[in-house]
Amino acid sequence: MSVFKDAGHLFRFAGLFVLAFIVFWAIRGYVVPKSFGQYGHYRGNAIGEIAARSVHFAGHDTCETCHTDVLDVKKNGKHAHVNCEACHGALAKHADDPASVTPPKLDTAVLCVRCHATTAAKPKGFPQVSAEEHSTGLPCETCHQPHSPAMVAGGAK
Ligand code: HEC
Ligand code: HEC
Ligand code: HEC
Ligand code: HEC
Repeated sequence: MSVFKDAGHLFRFAGLFVLAFIVFWAIRGYVVPKSFGQYGHYRGNAIGEIAARSVHFAGHDTCETCHTDVLDVKKNGKHAHVNCEACHGALAKHADDPASVTPPKLDTAVLCVRCHATTAAKPKGFPQVSAEEHSTGLPCETCHQPHSPAMVAGGAK
């Protein structure tokens, strides 16, 4: 078998591969978490860990069961489809215990421009204003009722 006369280097090379594979398998066994692959290509324990996290958002349905007056104002206005917590922030703690957790007051100078500041990236049809020119420094709720912003604050229509 003269073909394999000088084959020593091939076997050493193959040996290196085998060694690398064993090292890989040993490290893999050490670093991959035990529950990995229990249900699929992820840690089985992750399901329990995520389920154990506390809920931060109550969802607008929950808010509306108590704040029916706000809903009545909001439902026919331009903000009908902007959910409560998009503006008020996550309030599950308040919804669970309104007596002891009071939502923080919102600063409309910060809040409203987050969605309505003019930028070239927004769709043309989305209502946008340059806050300084438009509001001349007055808080937005001086003129807009936040829950139904086309209404004049405090007034009819
Ligand atoms: C179980 C009933 C209940 C639920 C659910 C509830 N609230 Fe309230 N909320 C209250 C009560 C009671 C007050 C205090 C009312 C008052 O003092 O005028 C209040 C007050 C507020 C205030 C005003 C605080 C202030 O400065 O006067 C805001 C804003 C508010 N809630 C937002 C929300 C949002 C958003 C949700 C949904 C995530 C929500 N609430 C869910 C009962 C509830
Ligand atoms: C577009 C943003 C926005 C949305 C959406 C929104 N709010 Fe408000 N809300 C405000 C602002 C601004 C104020 C006035 C400042 C403050 O009280 O923090 C306010 C005030 C309130 C107040 C106290 C004063 C009042 O008008 O009674 C309550 C209660 C309230 N919001 C509940 C809700 C609930 C419930 C929802 C969902 C049905 C909701 N808000 C959706 C921005 C919003
Ligand atoms: C989370 C994003 C968001 C925030 C925050 C927000 N808005 Fe809006 N606003 C919207 C959306 C969405 C519409 C509906 C746009 C449409 O009809 O295409 C809207 C509509 C409006 C309109 C009606 C424009 C028209 O076409 O007549 C006014 C005015 C307005 N908002 C003012 C405000 C004011 C004032 C605040 C602060 C109290 C505010 N918005 C906060 C998302 C937001
Ligand atoms: C001095 C009163 C006043 C103040 C303060 C004010 N607005 Fe307005 N805003 C108006 C009036 C009036 C209109 C309707 C005029 C029109 O249709 O052009 C309007 C229209 C809008 C529109 C709709 C623009 C469009 O293209 O349809 C948006 C969005 C808006 N305002 C957001 C804001 C925001 C955000 C603030 C706070 C930074 C604010 N406004 C403060 C009076 C005011």
